[in-house]
Amino acid sequence: MVRPVAPAISAEQIRDANARYHDVAAVHYDSKWGIDFGAMGQEQVTTKVRKALRGEPPRFERSLEIGSGTGYFTLNLMQAGLIGEATCSDISPGMLSTLTENASRLGLEVTTTPADAERLPFADGSFDLVLGHAVLHHIPHLELAFSEFARVLAPGGTLLFAGEPSRYGDRLATVPKRFARTIAPLWRAALRASAARAHSSDDDDEALEGVVDVHAFAPSELARLARAAGFRSVRVSGEELLANWFGWTNRTLEATADPEEVPWAWKMYAYRGYLMLQQLDRRLLESRLPAAIFYNLMIAAQKPA
Ligand SMILES: C[S@@+](CC[C@H](N)C(=O)[O-])C[C@H]1O[C@@H](n2cnc3c(N)ncnc32)[C@H](O)[C@@H]1O
Repeated sequence: MVRPVAPAISAEQIRDANARYHDVAAVHYDSKWGIDFGAMGQEQVTTKVRKALRGEPPRFERSLEIGSGTGYFTLNLMQAGLIGEATCSDISPGMLSTLTENASRLGLEVTTTPADAERLPFADGSFDLVLGHAVLHHIPHLELAFSEFARVLAPGGTLLFAGEPSRYGDRLATVPKRFARTIAPLWRAALRASAARAHSSDDDDEALEGVVDVHAFAPSELARLARAAGFRSVRVSGEELLANWFGWTNRTLEATADPEEVPWAWKMYAYRGYLMLQQLDRRLLESRLPAAIFYNLMIAAQKPA
């Protein structure tokens, strides 16, 4: 069994919390997470796909994204020419409407379908690629979801998920978060930024956040889920260590300040520093250290032909 990180509540409550939390998050999601649909976003996403597949990706004619959010993966992969016809699904209608706006601004045609990953409303063998980013850890019954992924894939199709929190990585990330909370008053004083005003909705958000994140994974657990659903050539890799420590420190600091008063120069330092450390992780650490210690895990596998 994949060990859950959330307290014992029903699967239905987890799904409901996910839909509500992400419907609200959809409006500011891209700016909060720095989601980019230009050259930088395409480069980030194609690099992840290359890493997961451990080589040059082919073009996939029919893709289905699970928990597609505002379109980070699919819209960037379409622009990079790696995807032909795209279907994006998500449990949150709010996320899909932001995705539709993003797609039309970029001049891309995408089919959107609200759907729970455990019950996909698609015929058997409909897609060549089933993919997702930062979604598996929200799904209550992963065995059901993986068997749905296998069912809707055509024989020989590819499964690819990235951005899943690793169990050790998740624990390690508490260190920079705690450090940032301790030094936050000094940091705000140095930047002359006042403290963020507390909104009553912040507490609700935090409470929901504890409910929507249900898993953190060991690499072997992800591999076992894929094999149990009949996938072969299963590969699990890790990515981002230093970049994540840096990112969590900065994001935790920024969350303590009035957003209007965080200087542009700081934001640029945080963004550029993150990209630089990502390169360092990629070049020095990812091929040398075990997947389990990285913050993010990715999995790629094939449905037998
Ligand atoms: C952290 S966001 C990631 C969004 C997007 N993939 C990205 O990387 O920007 C997780 C997404 O998974 C969706 N989600 C959560 N539980 C789901 C479920 N059971 N079935 C389908 N989608 C789900 C959420 O609504 C949300 O859009």
